[in-house]
Amino acid sequence: MTTWITVCDTCKRDGWLVGDTDGEKLAAAVEAAAEGSDHVKTRRVSCTMGCVRACNVTLQAEGKLAYTLGEFEPGAEAAEAIVEYAELHAQSETGQVPYRQWPQGVKGHFVTRMHPLPTE
Ligand code: FES
Repeated sequence: MTTWITVCDTCKRDGWLVGDTDGEKLAAAVEAAAEGSDHVKTRRVSCTMGCVRACNVTLQAEGKLAYTLGEFEPGAEAAEAIVEYAELHAQSETGQVPYRQWPQGVKGHFVTRMHPLPTE
């Protein structure tokens, strides 16, 4: 099953002045890291209401636990960790990934966990 990574492309970290937003930079890095994956897809949105924790991403898949993560610096290191975690999320039946498998780069970035909606 596909896990979607939603990247807020309007996030701006402290110190941002002009040019590409930090969110746009992270989105580009996540897209590059996920290129060729059979299990992870990406999309961009404008604002997930976590602005104070920029940069923000959300991981979701139908019927699974969903997560929001924030306070990423935009770059390849964060992007690779996010995609690696998304691959593990895609492999998990429930969306839960054992802590021992978490890539170092996502530790400390989890903000919320949302449970899937009931089917009835
Ligand atoms: S601008 Fe990214 S969460 Fe609001």
